[in-house]
Order: sequence, then structure tokens, then C-alpha cells
Amino acid sequence: MSSLSHFLVVFLFFISSVVCQVEEFISLDCGGTSNYTDRSTGIAWIPDRKYMNYGQPVGVINPNGNLVQYQRRRDFPIDKKKYCYTLATQERRRYLVRATFQYGNLKNEETYPQFQLYLDATAWFTVSILDASRIYVKEMIIRAPSDSIDVCICCATTGSPFISTLELRPLNLSMYATDYEDNFFLDVAARLNFGAPSEDSIRYPDDPYDRIWQSDLIKRPNYLVGVAPGTERINTSKNVNTKTREYPPVKVMQTAVVGTKGVLSYRLNLDNFPANARAYAYFAEIEDLGANETRKFKLSQPIMPDYNNAVVNIAENANGSYTLYEPSYMNVTLEFVLSFSFARTRDSTRGPLLNAMEICRYLRIAPKTDGRDLIVANALRLMSAESIWTNEGDPCVPTPWEWVTCSLTPPPRITKILLSRKSVTGEIPSELNNMEALTELWLDGNSLVGPLPDISNLINLKIVHIENNRLNGSLPSYLSSLPSLQELYIQNNSFTGEIPSGLINGKIIFHYGDNPQLHKEVQDKKHFKLILGISIGVLVILSVLFVGSLLLMRNRLRKAFQQQKSDSKGGSKRSNTKPSNAHSINRGDHLKDERIAYYITLSELEEATQNFSKKIGKGSFGSVYYGKMKDGKEVAVKIMADLSSQGQFVTEVALLSRIHHRNLVPLIGYCEEEHQRILVYEYMHNGTLRDHIHENANQTQLDWLARLCIAEDSAKDIC
Ligand SMILES: *[C@@H]1O[C@H](CO)[C@@H](O)[C@H](O)[C@H]1NC(C)=O
Ligand SMILES: *[C@@H]1O[C@H](CO)[C@@H](O)[C@H](O)[C@H]1NC(C)=O
Ligand SMILES: *[C@@H]1O[C@H](CO)[C@@H](O)[C@H](O)[C@H]1NC(C)=O
Ligand SMILES: *[C@@H]1O[C@H](CO)[C@@H](O)[C@H](O)[C@H]1NC(C)=O
Ligand SMILES: *[C@@H]1O[C@H](CO)[C@@H](O)[C@H](O)[C@H]1NC(C)=O
Ligand SMILES: *[C@@H]1O[C@H](CO)[C@@H](O)[C@H](O)[C@H]1NC(C)=O
Ligand SMILES: *[C@@H]1O[C@H](CO)[C@@H](O)[C@H](O)[C@H]1NC(C)=O
Ligand SMILES: *[C@@H]1O[C@H](CO)[C@@H](O)[C@H](O)[C@H]1NC(C)=O
Repeated sequence: MSSLSHFLVVFLFFISSVVCQVEEFISLDCGGTSNYTDRSTGIAWIPDRKYMNYGQPVGVINPNGNLVQYQRRRDFPIDKKKYCYTLATQERRRYLVRATFQYGNLKNEETYPQFQLYLDATAWFTVSILDASRIYVKEMIIRAPSDSIDVCICCATTGSPFISTLELRPLNLSMYATDYEDNFFLDVAARLNFGAPSEDSIRYPDDPYDRIWQSDLIKRPNYLVGVAPGTERINTSKNVNTKTREYPPVKVMQTAVVGTKGVLSYRLNLDNFPANARAYAYFAEIEDLGANETRKFKLSQPIMPDYNNAVVNIAENANGSYTLYEPSYMNVTLEFVLSFSFARTRDSTRGPLLNAMEICRYLRIAPKTDGRDLIVANALRLMSAESIWTNEGDPCVPTPWEWVTCSLTPPPRITKILLSRKSVTGEIPSELNNMEALTELWLDGNSLVGPLPDISNLINLKIVHIENNRLNGSLPSYLSSLPSLQELYIQNNSFTGEIPSGLINGKIIFHYGDNPQLHKEVQDKKHFKLILGISIGVLVILSVLFVGSLLLMRNRLRKAFQQQKSDSKGGSKRSNTKPSNAHSINRGDHLKDERIAYYITLSELEEATQNFSKKIGKGSFGSVYYGKMKDGKEVAVKIMADLSSQGQFVTEVALLSRIHHRNLVPLIGYCEEEHQRILVYEYMHNGTLRDHIHENANQTQLDWLARLCIAEDSAKDIC
């Protein structure tokens, strides 16, 4: 009765200290259908559908045993994507992460799957199913690098990737702390309970942290072989004090193996070894030794100079029986085949004893995508209505998301975002400015609103497509000085204000149409300059005319005088001067109704010339192309090679459009865009020209083109 009440007290104490732990357990029954509590462990399992929207729940054929969580599994598509479970963690807290896999019997023509398991960006394990009824267990001990972790499945080489359960168990305080935890996870390679009473593993609630302590009775090929003669299994029902670093469960420490003939020896294969490992041995004296009896032993294999000389005297090391002594090796290099043995020292009366051991491989943490890029990638992912992109874990590793391109440098950085026409809504995240490695941004054809965020830090940005959205606000002036920017497409948005001048005249390919309230600051200036140029031109001409007419009048007067003087001499032929005079006046009249050369956009010209496909002339001045405007008017389009300064160009345009030099073909329009200066002339058919010039068609065309070539020089001459 007293022992029962003692047991109850211990049990209640145990439950209360453990209850907060279990509440934090995450236990996902992958492919499961409903919540349930496992009767043997008291662990509450939930189906994984809240964590995973992809793949298919599949019933497992002939599952081994009747654990509910192994009646079903979740199969994932056989593709290049990765499928990730995101589990919430507390940054820098240590956890045990466990994934288990039981495939069950193969259906017709199925092959056993082989695929990759990842924790965040770190390649954890290649899951390779060889035995339908075996539950493959993978455990990793981590110190959470952030507020969540991703457990991902991907990259099947055969069969369909799947998972049976996924569990997250918080650990207490400094359990499993290592000197290397900033850079390494601990991949659990073996956790063995020696002298176990049955093949059943020990886990929660015996282990409050729900580690799985595997029974040493489970034998697999090349696993726990070569037991030395005289090895015996012992047990005790007395309590064992296990309150040291790793808190192994009392139940595990209550059993052990003893080498009654002086030796304990085992051999086991360790997956993914050779590797550097953390190794833990758990010893507790659970036999009552006589006063003159001792138990002293040494590690005799593998040969490790530092450890082979150390004598283990459990009771002394632990300062008493039924107390845990836990020597551990912070960093040992172990082979794929681990053979180990303990041998009694000469002065010891009892053979070696072993209660439990753990071997964890150091697994270097692969860097995740730069956190600054991660923020934007995740924000954009959530802004897209195409939910196909949820739960893909890290954007870059091991395989990049469908819509990002990444650099290979550690840590990976996103270099390209390709979200054209993917139903992205909302405002472009302002954190975009932190993605310094970004070279291409494609967000066109979505429903983005609000302003273009600050992107002045994106010095590598080459190509920006944000056209066909509902973005508003003004265009910042630094855009034109982004050092790498080559292409900027913003058409069909609601941008307002003035276009920074550098965008239009720089090297940047800039498309901005269909932004009704966006106006061209430069065009205004240009118009102003044009008007100024024209006014000056007109003024010059008028003054020329005025002076001319003054001169003429003086001439006339003089001539009239002379005529008056010589009138008596008879018939006048002075009317000859009149036509030339009339002509100049006519030209003056003509000036008033003649259309000023108008501004033609580059896209109109591209259309008219079918992308400058029909070249009809070329020289040092540039090239001349044939084109047909929308109204049917045929034009000769001259792209000027010499990029004279803008002011000069405008002046030239002004003059050319006003003055009909004898050798000039009429100028219709001009274009100054994207660092291109283009003049558009009336196209002259040979026939038309023939009226003016000679008979030889080729010759005439050359002449005509030659005139286009010298047009500006003539204009300059006129100036
Ligand atoms: C965690 O550690 C604290 C401090 O040693 C202890 O009081 C608590 O009982 C531990 N929790 C569990 C579940 O062992
Ligand atoms: C299943 O368990 C989860 C987590 O405890 C809970 O949020 C959910 O409401 C439960 N569902 C049902 C149907 O009981
Ligand atoms: C404990 O050891 C005794 C022999 O010493 C054995 O009879 C008993 O079955 C063992 N109990 C367990 C749970 O292994
Ligand atoms: C372990 O020791 C080896 C050899 O001294 C060293 O290279 C390595 O960085 C250490 N740590 C880990 C986690 O492997
Ligand atoms: C231990 O002491 C007892 C008497 O106290 C004696 O009978 C026994 O032989 C001794 N055993 C050894 C190994 O010396
Ligand atoms: C060992 O235990 C004894 C009593 O059992 C105690 O007096 C002594 O201080 C302990 N030594 C150490 C190092 O803990
Ligand atoms: C302009 O953008 C909207 C999306 O904001 C799109 O629906 C529409 O088709 C676009 N118009 C043109 C002419 O591309
Ligand atoms: C841009 O549009 C949003 C709504 O989409 C509006 O709240 C905001 O005031 C607009 N900003 C400007 C500068 O027009």
C-alpha cells in the first residue's frame, strides 16, 4: 500500500512536471483523417492537412502493428518540387524533430521509393525504403535557427515520396548542447536501450521528451551483432537518479547488459558515416556490489588514445549506485562500421556494464536563403491568389521555387522574380529594397496597387516589368541613375507626375504609355524649346524679310528713282523682280499654315517601319528606313547616328520643319526617345522626283537620299 501511494506520488509529480512539455508536442499523422489520442502513449495526434495541402492520403496495406498513425501515409507527386511542413519553433530553443516512414506492401508495379529529406536547407537523409513493414525513423536534434523550421520532402529517384508521421518535441534547457550548435545539427544515428525487457521502444511518457530508445533486442542485418560470450541482461526496479545533462528516462537506466566474462562487445553500421559525431554513454550501477567488489572497465575498441586509458568506475564516477554517470565525447570521428567493446580492468571483480548509448552525427547546417530575400519572397507568395506556391520551404534550396532564380553563393540570394500574370494583389513590399542581388523583377499583368516602393538600393537591377497593374504615385528620379537598369516597363498603370528626364534620354529602354496622369517633363521642356526655337526662327526670318523688304524697298525706291530718271527712255522689264519677290512673300504666307513637324513616338515608328525592317539608305549620318504611317502616309525614317546634344537636335527639328530649302525633303516629324534621335521625312517616290530631277531612277533615288543625308548640314548652313 505504501509503495503504491509512493508510486502514485511519484507518478503525479512526474505527470505535473511533464504536462507542460506534452502540450508543446506537435504530432502530425500524415495522411490521417481525424484527431485521436494514442492509448499506449497518451500522445494526441492530429492529421497533417492543416500543414500540408499537397499530396494524397493513402491507406497503407498490411501495416505492421496497429498503431493508428501507420494506417495511412501521405504520398507526394513525383516531380521536381519540394513539399514542406512548416513547424513553429522558438528561436534558439533545442528541439527533437522526428520524421517516420512506413510504406507498407507494394501494389502492382510499384517500386520502393527513394527520396530526399531536408530540414530547412540542410540535406538530412536519403530515405530509401527496402522493407515494407519496417518503420524508418529519422531524428534530428536542433537548436532552432529561427521561429520556424521546414521539414521538406523532395527529389525522388524512385517511387513516390511519402511520409507517415512528423513530430516536434521541445527539449529542456541545455540538453544536447554542443560546442558546434551554431553550425551543426545532430542527426541521431543510434539511440539504444541495453538490456531492454522486450523489443518495444521506450518513449513518452517514460521519456518526458519523447525520445525513442530502441530495444537492443531488435536485430537487423549488420546492426548490434557480435555480442561477446557471457553478456547478460540485468534489471532493477529501484529508482535511478538520472538528473544530469541529458535526462535519460529512468526506465532505460533500470536495465543494462553486463559482460560477466569481462567483455562487452557490439558492432553496428552507422548510416552516412564516417563522420564526426557526438557520442553519449549512459552508465548506472544497478547491481548491489559487495563491500570487497569493484566494477572497473575501459573502452578497448575503437582505439581512441584519450579515452582508452580512462577507467570507468561507475559508482565512483557517479558518486553512488543507482545514479547516472554520463561520459560523452564531444567530437569523435567514427567509421561506417562502429565496433566497440569495454573490457574489465585487472583489479576489477565485475565485468563491464552498459545501460544505454546515443550516437549523433554532426550535420553542417546549410545556409538558408538570405533572410531579407525570404521576407519578400514569402510576402509575394502570400499575395498571389495562385495558392500552388504555399509550403515550398526555402525559396532557393534544395530546388528553387518555380518563380525565383537564385545565386549559388552561400547564403543563396534571389536574383530574379518572375511573377508575370500570377494574380498578385496588394502593394509591392517595401522590403524589396533589401534584395540587393536582384537583377530582374517581373510583376507585370497583376493587380498591384499603391506606389512603387523605394528600390534605390537595388544596384544590380537590370530589368523591371511592372506594366499592366494599378500602381500609382510618382516616379522617383533616382530610377534613371540605377547603375544597372536597362529596361523599365511601367505602361498601363496609374502613375502620376513628371517622368524623370534621365529615363527618357538615358540608355534605359523605357515604356510608359497608358498612364493618363503621367506627363513628360522633358516633352514640355522640349515643346518649350521647340516653341522658343520656332519663335527665334520666325523672328529671324521675319527680320530677314523685314530687312530684306527694307533693302528691297530701298532698291525699288532707288530703282524707281532710276526708272523715273530713265522713264523717259521707255519700256520696263522690272516685273522680273516681282516673281522672286512674290515668291519670298508667298513663302512667308506658307509659313503660317504649314504644319509644324510633330512628335512621333518610337512605338508608332516601330509600327510604321515594321521594326525598322526595310532599310533604304545608309551613311555616316545613320540609316534611313521606309515606313508607312497609320494614316497611309509614306515616310522615310532617319535614325541619326550622331547623338548631338539635345538642344541642338530640337533646334534642328524646329528649323527643318519650318524651312523649305531647295535641297530639302519635307520633314514631317521627329522622335527623341530611349537615347535615339529620329527624323521622319516625306517619302519621295522616284516618279515624284523625276518631275523635279533626272531620268535615271537609281540615280534619282540616290540623289534624294543623299539629300536626306546632308539635310542637317544644310539646316546648319541655313543657321
Ligand atoms: C526542465 O528543467 C527545469 C530546471 O532544471 C526543471 O525544473 C524542469 O522540471 C525540467 N522539465 C522537465 C520536463 O524535465
Ligand atoms: C484536433 O486537434 C487540434 C489541435 O489540438 C484542434 O485545433 C482541432 O480543433 C481538433 N479537431 C477536432 C475535429 O477535434
Ligand atoms: C529482471 O531480471 C530478472 C532476473 O534477474 C528476470 O527474472 C526478470 O524477468 C527481469 N525483468 C525484466 C522486466 O526484464
Ligand atoms: C571535430 O573535430 C574535427 C577534427 O579535429 C574538426 O575538423 C571538426 O571541425 C570538429 N567539429 C565538428 C562538428 O566536426
Ligand atoms: C568478498 O568478501 C567476502 C567476505 O566478506 C568473501 O567471502 C569473498 O570471497 C570476497 N570476494 C572476493 C572476490 O574477494
Ligand atoms: C558524494 O556523496 C556523498 C554522500 O553520499 C557526499 O557527501 C559527497 O559530497 C559527494 N561527492 C560529490 C563530489 O558529490
Ligand atoms: C491594363 O492592365 C490591366 C490590369 O491592371 C489589364 O487587365 C488590362 O488588360 C491591361 N490593358 C492592356 C491594354 O494591356
Ligand atoms: C494610390 O492608390 C491607393 C489605393 O489603391 C490610394 O489609397 C492612394 O491614396 C493612392 N495614392 C496616390 C498618390 O494616388
